[in-house]
Amino acid sequence: MSAAVAPRVVIADPLAPRGLELLREQLEVVVSTEPARLPIDLPGAHALVVRSRTQVDAALMDRGAELKLIARAGIGVDNIDVSAASRRNILVINAPLGNVQSTAEHTMALILALARRIVTADASLRSGAWRTGYHGMQLQGTRLGIIGIGKVGRKVAEMAKALGLDVVACDPYVPVEEWLALPARPVDAAELLATSDIVSLHLTLTEETRDLIGSAELAAMKPGSLLINCARGGLVDEDALAQSLQSGHLAGAALDVFQTEPPEGSPLLTAPNVILTPHVAASTREAQERVSTEIAVQVLDFFAGRSVAYPVNCTVKTED
Ligand SMILES: NC(=O)c1ccc[n+]([C@@H]2O[C@H](COP(=O)([O-])OP(=O)(O)OC[C@H]3O[C@@H](n4cnc5c(N)ncnc54)[C@H](O)[C@@H]3O)[C@@H](O)[C@H]2O)c1
Repeated sequence: MSAAVAPRVVIADPLAPRGLELLREQLEVVVSTEPARLPIDLPGAHALVVRSRTQVDAALMDRGAELKLIARAGIGVDNIDVSAASRRNILVINAPLGNVQSTAEHTMALILALARRIVTADASLRSGAWRTGYHGMQLQGTRLGIIGIGKVGRKVAEMAKALGLDVVACDPYVPVEEWLALPARPVDAAELLATSDIVSLHLTLTEETRDLIGSAELAAMKPGSLLINCARGGLVDEDALAQSLQSGHLAGAALDVFQTEPPEGSPLLTAPNVILTPHVAASTREAQERVSTEIAVQVLDFFAGRSVAYPVNCTVKTED
């Protein structure tokens, strides 16, 4: 591929160095991480690389008349209008494996911090108090209910089992024969909510799953239980969760993702016993390097005419 005709790739969100180096070896790379620059840099671009920050809607795609590829360095493609991309015959790809371990580790960090009230204890000590008499929850023997036992959910289940938790899960899309090999016992959603001491969400956000956890589901959860969400903010009705925490029905919640990010004005900011992190579950050096490589290799494969490992909209014709 000669430098003069190298396809142009616009990088809209920060990408870890290894992926950038790989792309620069063969393609023209334009780093356009200032949101105001993106519409200016898109005309003439053949590929657009994003993480979760950039919203790729039809209007943005219209700025890039030559776009053939939209690459999401990470798994969730809810910030990309995939239908609009398909209509324009733009292939969407993602990098679904690179951040699984880091996301599962962050989930476990939140479960441990919430169960042992680490944030409260830290704040209490800094305010001059010493052993104020609160008690944490021992995890061994308690039940963790995982909703969505895909890549991250399975890893969380393995880690939780190693700590001695009783792990149950519900996922209507897992075939019966697959459950035997999974580190979790299948239950239906009603049993999971009613019997779990900790409920952790690991499913994708779709029109079917939006607001999956609302006031009825929170009321169905065991009194004194905990809710963890490291998947997507739109899965949980934040007003209903704040009310449940205020009433004391739920004992705590920990969230890495929000309906609107950043969650300005969210009632969760002032709700009791909540740990909030700013969508950083996948933000480890290791995960970002892996994801950037996973996406760069596919971008190179695409422009070299090879098949890509993780197409999202498989119906797009890639030969033209
Ligand atoms: N916080 C972060 O930074 C971060 C990082 C990575 C992934 N994520 C999110 O975590 C979630 C899981 O990621 P993954 O890689 O494990 O995805 P995955 O596709 O491997 O797993 C998702 C699972 O959810 C299941 N599911 C779908 N609808 C369901 C329903 N109604 N009830 C129960 N299960 C249902 C699917 O069958 C699948 O097994 C995604 O939402 C992803 O965007 C967040």
